[in-house]
Formats: sequence, structure tokens, C-alpha cells
Amino acid sequence: MDVLRGEVPERRPVWFMRQAGRYLPEYRALRAEAGSFLNLCYDPVKACEVTLQPLRRFDIDAAILFSDILVVPHALGLDLRFAEGEGPILQTVRSEDEVARLKVSQPGDQFKKVAETVALVRAGLAPEKALIGFCGAPWTVASYMIEGGSSKRLRAKSVAEENPAWFADLMDRLVEVSVHYLCMQVEAGADCVQIFDSWAGDLEGETLERCVFAPISRMVKLLKARFSRLPVIGFARGIGLRQADFARATGVDAVSVEDDLVLSDVLATLPPAVAVQGNLSPQELLAGGGAMREAVAALLSSVPKQRHIFNLGHGIVPPTPIAHVAEVVAMIRAAD
Ligand code: CP3
Repeated sequence: MDVLRGEVPERRPVWFMRQAGRYLPEYRALRAEAGSFLNLCYDPVKACEVTLQPLRRFDIDAAILFSDILVVPHALGLDLRFAEGEGPILQTVRSEDEVARLKVSQPGDQFKKVAETVALVRAGLAPEKALIGFCGAPWTVASYMIEGGSSKRLRAKSVAEENPAWFADLMDRLVEVSVHYLCMQVEAGADCVQIFDSWAGDLEGETLERCVFAPISRMVKLLKARFSRLPVIGFARGIGLRQADFARATGVDAVSVEDDLVLSDVLATLPPAVAVQGNLSPQELLAGGGAMREAVAALLSSVPKQRHIFNLGHGIVPPTPIAHVAEVVAMIRAAD
């Protein structure tokens, strides 16, 4: 929170995307008990426990709400399931009628379950630890809605470029409902929020500005109008050297950076009030050893702790050894 507010932190903060997940045996046990990933997401006691699990193992500085970006389309009335080994399967939205049917002004109980989880986590979390709320950005969520699941997003990309009225309408509704959803999380106890635009790198030029920069900019304005001191982290994955344009266009307090960029190069281009988050490669964390240690050391020496939240460039992958995560945290602490 100090870094996000432009203050000097006591120590370099660190958390990991997907820090709660299948690489932890205690996660797999609770997930099995819940029966499915979605049952786990909508069971506040279990979701709270899963959120806190990584903080019991590692000396990290933040918990991220355990949930998923597809909770939003689910709450808008679309069928959703997670097929083992296949990823999400979501009911599609591809016309004006289907957009009109979305329950934007009366989302389902899913949001309430998530807010209950947030409140339980905040109550169970030490006061010096931050609780990060999140949602998917309109473009990434819209692409899942158009495609119906994981894909190369060719259909979604051509819709974005052609920009039919129903697509613009869908994006507007996603801005509105996502802000409502994040505000619920903040009211329940989230200290800051991250907006995940995992597929931002699909788009370029005017389409990137219209579908990524503009909707996130509107979200940040609406969020800050409601909570003036709420820090917002933006993760526009894959936009390369446009990170500084993204930061300026949206007003986010930090950019989360994928691992194929050099973090210090990105930092050098950013406005002075914007911090960087990232960007150890998940593959390097998985492999461990000398290459991992060198990559961590390079990050620590190339960006100052008052502008840096240590993280990965993307989520922890399931086969990652727990000892590698512990080793990275120990290196960060030793360097403070
Ligand atoms: O980071 C965290 O620890 C918080 C929890 C979190 C999850 N998903 C849990 C999850 C967050 C922040 C997300 C965001 C999310 N979900 C994104 C954006 C970030 C990114 O990864 O790019 C996206 C694109 C999704 C959609 C999604 N959810 C997919 C494509 C999948 C299947 C792929 C997979 O890893 O199995 C999920 C499932 C999912 N979300 C899991 C977890 C822990 C795995 C579920 C399980 O089998 O237990």
C-alpha cells in the first residue's frame, strides 16, 4: 500500500499471481472437498481459507481474494462450468438480444458470496497485510463471453475491430457492472484492486485504445470518484512498450508487467507517481536454481523498492515446487 501511494515502504513488498492454487497440497485438498472450482469460489469459509493459505507458508505482504474473473459473466446470468483439464466453458454472447438479456442491474447472488469472502479474509488477515480485490477488464471478460471459453480469440478480435453496436454496448455494461463489483469488494474490506486485462496484447492501435485504455480509464475514474484514495493496479498483459501510454491513459497507480519486458526499462518510461509490479517469469520460478536466483537478483538491483511490488509476469503454474517460492521470498527479504 505504501508503494501504491508513493511512500517509502519498510521492505520491498511481494505477492504472487495465482498464489493460491494447485501447486499447494492444502489447496488441492480443499478444492477436492468443495467438489468443484466454482463451489470453492462461492463458499465464503472455504474461499477465505484458500485465500489465507499462502500467507501461512510464505512471508508475503498481500492476500489476493480467491475467486475468478468469470464470476462477473456468471452473475450476469450466463452458464459457466470449469471442465477438468479444459478450462472454463461459458455461455456465449454474440448479438444485441443476448447483450440485452444480461442482468446488469440485478446481478445474481455470486457477488454477495464474494463480498462475504472478502469480509472473512479481512477479519482473518493481520492488519499490516494488504487485501487485493480484483476483476477482469472489460476486453478480457468480453472475449471469454464472445468465445465461450479459452481460445485464440479470433472471433473476439474481429468483433472488436468491426465494433458492432452490441459489442460497444457489452463493453459499456461490463464497465458498469465491474465497477459495482469492485466497489462491493472495497466496502467489504479490500485495500486495493487489480484489473486483469490478460488479453490486452491481442489488440493494437485504435482498437487497443478503444477496448483496453478507454474502458479501464472509465473504471478508474468511477472507482476514484467513489473511493478517492483507492489504489488501482492495471495488468495489461502483452502490450509491450505501450505500458506508459496505458498508465497515462487510465490513471492506474501501478502497472503489472509481463515477463518478456525489462522491468527497469518500463519503469523509466512511467510517470513518477506510477509504480511497477512484476515480473519474474513463472517458468523461471518453476525451474528454480541459479537462473532463478540470477533473475531475482537482477530485478532487486534494477528497480528501487519504493517503486516496486515484486511479483511474477503471470500466474504460478501448478507444477511449481513450493521451495522455489520460499527461496524467492527469502532472497527479497535478505536484500532489504
Ligand atoms: O491470483 C490468485 O491467486 C487469485 C485467484 C485468481 C484465479 N483466477 C483463480 C483460479 C485470479 C486473480 C484469477 C484471474 C483469472 N481467471 C484470469 C486473469 C489472470 C490470468 O491468469 O491471466 C483469467 C484469464 C481467468 C480465467 C480462468 N480461470 C482460466 C482460463 C482458468 C483455467 C486455467 C487453469 O489454470 O486451470 C481458470 C481457473 C482458475 N482460476 C484456477 C484458479 C486457482 C484453477 C482452478 C482449479 O482447477 O483449481
